[in-house]
Amino acid sequence: MSYSVAILVGSLRKDSFNRKVAQNLIKQGAPALDMNIVEIGGVSFFNQDLEGNPPQDWVDFRAKIKAADAVLFVTPEYNRSMPGVLKNVIDVGSRPYGQSVFDGKPAAVVSASVGAVGGFGANHHLRQVLAYLNMPTMGQPEAYLGAVGDWFDEAGNIKNPKTVEFLKKYVDAFAGWIGTHVKK
Ligand code: FNR
Repeated sequence: MSYSVAILVGSLRKDSFNRKVAQNLIKQGAPALDMNIVEIGGVSFFNQDLEGNPPQDWVDFRAKIKAADAVLFVTPEYNRSMPGVLKNVIDVGSRPYGQSVFDGKPAAVVSASVGAVGGFGANHHLRQVLAYLNMPTMGQPEAYLGAVGDWFDEAGNIKNPKTVEFLKKYVDAFAGWIGTHVKK
């Protein structure tokens, strides 16, 4: 059986390395995982005043997360934390209080950076949030992908076969993690 995975990419940049990482993960995840990027660029800023009459883009975003078995976060690090656009959709999905669409869904976090540290700060700030949201988050393997600036060929494929192998191991482990923790 195939699990559906919503991927949230924490960068809106057209040539985002994180988006390319996500696209390579999608390839490696099939057929056990049906992974799709849920776009976050059009999701309005969270504003508690709008909770009674939410914008359509909030409703649509929440429905997409609700329909997925699991969530994979693929994010850059901005100023040693997660980008604001990613935190915004997490806040949108977490409300109204008691109706979080993230509740109980298995998760994993990949961070990718042009820097050497591989977005460790963003990865772990995000994990703190996921703990609060009651999302069982895969501990191993970890994925802090550093120096990703020269990883890709013209078509966006990862050039180094060892890296591809690592991503395959990562998604295989995530499939196993989802199998253990998916909400029945
Ligand atoms: C960055 N970048 C960055 N990198 C890092 O390793 N640690 C950091 O704290 C930051 N901080 C940061 C802040 C802001 C506002 C920007 C725009 C960038 C660099 C970042 O890793 C790089 O731009 C990546 O290429 C962003 O990911 P995408 O857009 O390629 O997916």
